[in-house]
Amino acid sequence: MTARILVIGGTGRLGRPVVARLRDAGCEVRVVTRHPGDHGDGIEHLVGDLRTGEGIEPALAGVTTVVNCAGSAKGDDGMARILVRAALGVGTPHLVNISVVGADRVPVRSRVDRAMFGYFAAKLAAEHEISGSGLPWTTLRATQFHDALLAVARQMSKLPVLPVPAGIRFQPVDTGEVAARVAELALGEPAGLVPEMAGPRTYAMDELLRGYLRASRRHRVLLPLHMPGGAARAIRAGANLAPEHAVLGRRTWEEVLVEQVGSSMRAVA
Ligand SMILES: NC(=O)c1ccc[n+]([C@@H]2O[C@H](COP(=O)([O-])OP(=O)(O)OC[C@H]3O[C@@H](n4cnc5c(N)ncnc54)[C@H](OP(=O)(O)O)[C@@H]3O)[C@@H](O)[C@H]2O)c1
Repeated sequence: MTARILVIGGTGRLGRPVVARLRDAGCEVRVVTRHPGDHGDGIEHLVGDLRTGEGIEPALAGVTTVVNCAGSAKGDDGMARILVRAALGVGTPHLVNISVVGADRVPVRSRVDRAMFGYFAAKLAAEHEISGSGLPWTTLRATQFHDALLAVARQMSKLPVLPVPAGIRFQPVDTGEVAARVAELALGEPAGLVPEMAGPRTYAMDELLRGYLRASRRHRVLLPLHMPGGAARAIRAGANLAPEHAVLGRRTWEEVLVEQVGSSMRAVA
């Protein structure tokens, strides 16, 4: 029987390669997006919004698995709640959820923590919505994606002086490798909380930025910035990293810079 899979957030960084992999695996895939129109990939796109619930229940009709790749800086817990409610209304689909490494280890208690790291608390609350739903589920926690950090580096380097959170490290992972794992999980049996996924190396934030600046031949001043609060302290202690017990990706930050920054610089040189 052909698997019928709905990918919410199938237009995003992670969602796009997940959709491509599921389609290539022979699944019947549909995507929910807030933006109607022809997305040019031959995939059925339905309009829906996880903040309001609009269009979600109809999109779920007849699907066996829902991969939730939707997300934003704020409110992923509310979106998970709406997804669960809609899914319970149509049957018992397998919910595949993507969360973040550190969701359970970064304490978000104060106003300062919430303002800077509320994302981690929202992702943990979203995990609880899914795991407590009574529906079959799988959650994968991943570290930051290379291309998300690249977007941050590009944005920051527009400034002459780059404020760099001191003592914070990242273990970036390739989006395509995470997508392959998400697709594999979507095609498998519900597995609960699976081993985390992280990149092959950890880097200090200034190391990541210096690499980007070198690759793009820019010169900027880096200004170390101490971030206050318990969440920042936990992150400085490595709560956002997964050096052990993780499925490690292979692609490195250096490879990404050569492919996506170095080559484009050569192209314009
Ligand atoms: N980026 C990272 O480094 C990272 C690391 C670990 C985990 N994650 C998690 O991975 C997931 C995907 O991240 P990403 O970087 O691929 O995100 P992204 O590129 O920003 O894409 C976000 C996706 O969410 C959809 N979306 C946002 N709000 C929505 C809403 N109200 N209703 C329906 N869809 C909505 C967007 O769809 P439309 O705009 O088409 O509606 C888009 O497809 C998120 O849950 C994120 O927390 C990300």
